[in-house]
Amino acid sequence: MTYQSHYFTEVRNAQANAYAPYSNFKVGAYLRTKDGKTYYGANVENAAYPMSICAERSSLVAAIADGYRPGDFESITVTVDADEPSSPCGSCRQVMKELCDDDMPVYMTNHHGDMIASTVNELLPLGFSGKDLN
Ligand code: THU
Repeated sequence: MTYQSHYFTEVRNAQANAYAPYSNFKVGAYLRTKDGKTYYGANVENAAYPMSICAERSSLVAAIADGYRPGDFESITVTVDADEPSSPCGSCRQVMKELCDDDMPVYMTNHHGDMIASTVNELLPLGFSGKDLN
């Protein structure tokens, strides 16, 4: 499924739940499964800064905890309040590599409604995966 305008509404709603008192940089994620379910993510910060959890990973972890498995995901949309849509951090790219199809769309948006479309593989080319362990 290609990007649709309601993805933006959904991801902005998810962003509203971000807990980001230290960075004040609120991030939202809207994860869709291939069978039509939705998981929301938001960044959750901690006074011990490195423990902060990103929006992308929080949505994926929620879906896996609910029983979804690698390959079950259709797309993820991310949003930030910045002049340019920002792209997922390296840790989130690695987790997407583990759990999502290489060609799964990653839609990056900002508060203006700008959108940049990419894929897991484009964001982490030549990424390390379970296949490398064989
Ligand atoms: N953050 C995300 O939620 N996703 C990313 O891909 C980049 C960074 C969060 C982590 C932290 O709470 C805040 O943004 C500033 O880095």
